[in-house]
Amino acid sequence: MRKKITVVGAGNVGATCAQELARRDYADVVLVDIIPNYPQGKALDVNQAAAVLGYEPAMVGSNGYEETADSDVVVITAGKPRTPGMSRDDLVSTNEAIVSAVTKEAVKHSPGAIVVVVSNPLDAMCHVAKATSRFKKHRVVGMAGILDTARFSTFIAHELDVSVKDVTAVVLGGHGDQMVPVVSATNVGGIPLPELLPRGRISKLVERTKFGGGELVSLLGTSAWYAPGAAAAQMVDSICLDEKRILPCTAYLEGEYGISGLYMGVPVKLGTGGVEEIVKLKLTADEKKMLRASAAAVREVVGVLKKK
Ligand code: APR
Repeated sequence: MRKKITVVGAGNVGATCAQELARRDYADVVLVDIIPNYPQGKALDVNQAAAVLGYEPAMVGSNGYEETADSDVVVITAGKPRTPGMSRDDLVSTNEAIVSAVTKEAVKHSPGAIVVVVSNPLDAMCHVAKATSRFKKHRVVGMAGILDTARFSTFIAHELDVSVKDVTAVVLGGHGDQMVPVVSATNVGGIPLPELLPRGRISKLVERTKFGGGELVSLLGTSAWYAPGAAAAQMVDSICLDEKRILPCTAYLEGEYGISGLYMGVPVKLGTGGVEEIVKLKLTADEKKMLRASAAAVREVVGVLKKK
């Protein structure tokens, strides 16, 4: 049977994710937004592109949740994006109310779904979606690590003038300025990054990655959408197609990496069951320290939430 995917939020990130998924042609996609006519218009446009690009025009736009019933995956992108001068954490109370409201509606109609959270501040919004849905931890997962890793990989590929396809990078931790690009697990064509670049050059790429979201906000005047939308779609693929890919995602930790009761970016195995495994990666002492600092920063934002 064809899969069904709901994307809540038909703005920049949601529409990009929905379009990527529609082009894959394995699922019906429902796009939901609070703005009247907006998701309907986006769905119609994507469906008309299908005639040119060669996929089935199977996207539906809606301002309600009836059409979303029995979705396999619900992607939550509803909320305010960042504007220049704002950190992701500045969005916390506005987006808590939005994410809580949309999660409640979405899971009411799709009680068996896996929820993929994209709204920021990401780690905190995963707590909101888990608390609201009351789903078990493996069924609520956040998108951040794939995006942060994609940014790191892009900078490495440019620096070394090699194909990004041959860069294997890992970025863990919270989706904030304290994220942890794991240099010890990063290689290019199998060659460890520290053998290819001097420490100083690597540090510059690491710093640019940590502030990669902010760089885009200052260029665009709002937060990015092509890479975030593509990253969320990659997670949906792994879940819907049971690919069991090992991807850096935001998962609820209960002791793994020495962290408990907190959503953090770690490598996970993603399949039909959602987070099927939290993969252990050997970290250096420095990386462990950075991960702890990142966890402390996430805890601070989670502490501001009304419902945890
Ligand atoms: N129900 C449904 N949709 C909503 C609701 C709601 N209660 N509240 C807001 N929205 C919709 C808005 O109408 C808008 O179309 O969410 C959409 C958000 O789209 P954009 O403003 O374009 O923001 P976008 O860039 O897509 O970012 C969305 O993802 O990456 C994160 O930081 C980003 O938190 C932000 C989210």
